[in-house]
Amino acid sequence: ENPEYLAEFNAKIDAGGFIEAKDWMPEAYRKTLVRQISQHAHSEIVGMLPEGNWITRAPSLKRKAILLAKVQDEGGHGLYLYAAAETLGVSRDELTEALLSGKAKYSSIFNYPTLNWADIGVIGWLVDGAAIMNQIPLCKCSYGPYARAMVRVCKEESFHQRQGYDLLLQMMKGTEEQREMVQDAVDRWWFPSIMMFGPHDKDSVHTDSARWGIKRISNDDLRQKFVDATVKQAEVLGVSLPDPELKWNEARGHYDFGVIDWDEFWNVVGGHGQCNVDRLAARNKAWDDGAWVREAAIAHAEKMAERERQ
Ligand code: ACO
Repeated sequence: ENPEYLAEFNAKIDAGGFIEAKDWMPEAYRKTLVRQISQHAHSEIVGMLPEGNWITRAPSLKRKAILLAKVQDEGGHGLYLYAAAETLGVSRDELTEALLSGKAKYSSIFNYPTLNWADIGVIGWLVDGAAIMNQIPLCKCSYGPYARAMVRVCKEESFHQRQGYDLLLQMMKGTEEQREMVQDAVDRWWFPSIMMFGPHDKDSVHTDSARWGIKRISNDDLRQKFVDATVKQAEVLGVSLPDPELKWNEARGHYDFGVIDWDEFWNVVGGHGQCNVDRLAARNKAWDDGAWVREAAIAHAEKMAERERQ
């Protein structure tokens, strides 16, 4: 590595500037970005599945239109993110292959099932809420194409979060059975949602990411911010969070919370969660079913190129 280039690169990051696709960058910086951005892209794409599952069962036209728009947004986020990863010299085919073969990681959260309609609200409130908490700092991350993609993604995630909370508020005004459905969904999604921020900082292996301004806030700090913000929202909604150890700590100025089951987390990340097999099977089926579209697009492009030559 050329020390002069490295000094220039570090100075740009220290000054809060953006690194762009054509700028020189250390190989490890490129690698960690490809890793994180592609995992993020895969999460958006796989994240369409648990909610997509409910589009045909939405209880009203309004809710169906909202859910349809939201799931399409997630697909769009995946596409911007793949495009951002491609600026780092990897191909879309390589990334797709890594997802379909099960080699690539995607967020643990999407390996949990959506059992009732309240799950759709809770995903918006907690899962998209956690995603925003993690993604707002990424709008200021040091890699320009990733940071810029995040700006629009966060705006859309904010709509997703609100529609989920609104859906739950509506259900809480309904029947006793509906309120029970909401509580049941909160009980199932709370801990998986706070696991989304990743392992505790002491077990978070990618410390270079912080040094290079990719991750601006650590896993534990983001998790704490999320818990602190969510407790009040749960009160307004009228649900309890399933953690007896959750309580305000005056000295810390934060909520304390119970021990996270990291065995469950690593089990899910390792491919053994409730829905990992189904999620990959659904993506593989979509890829295989779409083969004719790719073939037709290539045949069309070749025909056009041939016409151009004549
Ligand atoms: N699900 C699956 N894997 C995870 C999760 C999770 N929730 N959290 C951490 N991991 C993995 C990491 O990818 C890493 O694996 P790797 O070394 O094979 O790449 C390993 O666990 C160790 O974790 P960290 O060292 O803490 O990893 P990192 O510094 O990348 O931090 C984090 C993890 C916070 C998720 C980071 O990658 C990030 O901010 N990513 C961008 C946001 C994102 O991907 N969001 C997806 C969900 S939101 C949505 O799609 C709606």
